[in-house]
Amino acid sequence: MSFEYICCRTKSNMTDIKENVSLKPYNTFGIDVKARYFFRANNQEELRFVLENHRDCFPFMIMGGGSNILFTRDFNGLIVQPDLKGISILENDSEHCRVEVGAGVNWDDFVSWSVENNLGGIENLSLIPGSSGSSPIQNIGAYGAEAKDVIKNVKYLDLESFETVIISNPDCKFGYRDSIFKTQLKNRVVITSVVFILSHNPEFNIKYGNLQKEIEKRGVLTLKTVRDAVINIRRSKLPDPKSLGNAGSFFKNPVVEKDIVNKLKKQNEFMPVFPVSEEQAKISAGWLIEQCGWKGKRTGNAGVYDKQALILVNHGNASGAEIYDLAMKISDSVFERFGIKLETEVNIV
Ligand code: FAD
Ligand code: EPU
Repeated sequence: MSFEYICCRTKSNMTDIKENVSLKPYNTFGIDVKARYFFRANNQEELRFVLENHRDCFPFMIMGGGSNILFTRDFNGLIVQPDLKGISILENDSEHCRVEVGAGVNWDDFVSWSVENNLGGIENLSLIPGSSGSSPIQNIGAYGAEAKDVIKNVKYLDLESFETVIISNPDCKFGYRDSIFKTQLKNRVVITSVVFILSHNPEFNIKYGNLQKEIEKRGVLTLKTVRDAVINIRRSKLPDPKSLGNAGSFFKNPVVEKDIVNKLKKQNEFMPVFPVSEEQAKISAGWLIEQCGWKGKRTGNAGVYDKQALILVNHGNASGAEIYDLAMKISDSVFERFGIKLETEVNIV
């Protein structure tokens, strides 16, 4: 059965599958590639229908806000965006509030909602782009907080059985920028909602970097001032994808054995190191890249951001391949100089 035949056969049921769609507005790198088919599912029925009918016909991919993806070529298959909305309070007592958030809810809209409702737990994660359904995938983190600290469970559609499954926090195997959704369950599920436990009596967590100083400028410690301070710091450091295409940190900060760290530290006194466990420590990838001379460098339309070397940017019409080539040159040079292999955080397609 040909690709075209399958599409025509089922298209009569799903008129909203768009063909030859430019993905430029759908990815924060602003890479101009096309998807052969693109479908935005507005509810669970549409999502289930389109995946049940098309999943085996051609390559498919689930996409949220496109803020952690680098497309290196056209996608000759179907992209499905689960645009499932809704924030519902499941349980509310004097201490906690259990909230279910649809996968298609913009993450920062949810953070804003939580702060307005005086519910603590995710204020440090303000202004991270993307959808709430993606928050467990790489266990988003910033300013000393991670999504795993507040996720109760994750609801997903299993693409083998087409059953809805609820997976609890410990079973998600969360780690630094990691979870089961990036390993055993990769391409096998669609996350449809996430349940969070937020707190009426938040414990503020303001030790990271200059967060405390930013809050002191505002005179009072509230969820709102933490959110405002985080937003202010992020805006001063990170490029706004609307004006300069990027996907946040391109690489993860490498987690390295302590004896290697100690050896490097002897040669590089000022290398920033963050303890992870008795045996391991995290090294700042931004620092490693800056030491190799890449900060602010540009090759064609691809470049390294001049205020944060961990962020690769699209200066105009860069192709995904150009950005990827630059990333590989950077990681080769870091390996040559420090013997450390950088791992990409961004999903390369
Ligand atoms: P997408 O990029 O659309 O998808 C990411 C991956 O998840 C893909 O593999 C996709 O197939 C899969 N996926 C998406 N939705 C689903 C679903 N419902 N079910 C199954 N699979 C799915 N990240 C941080 O952790 N901390 C930061 O501080 C941070 N800062 C950033 C700053 C900027 C300026 C930018 C552009 C990005 C930043 N990021 C950060 C990265 C990014 O915002 C997060 O990884 C975010 O969670 C990605 O969400 P998304 O909806 O855009 O996912
Ligand atoms: N640094 C440099 N040069 C640089 C960049 C950083 O020397 O060009 C050093 C500095 O010493 C700085 C330290 O690295 O103090 C840490 O930098 P920063 O606070 O900017 O954080 P990061 O480690 O570069 C991580 C996350 C970000 C998250 C911030 C804040 C990863 C891969 N990145 O960046 O997440 O917002 O901390 O918590 O863990 C993302 O994942 O996309 C992302 C943006």
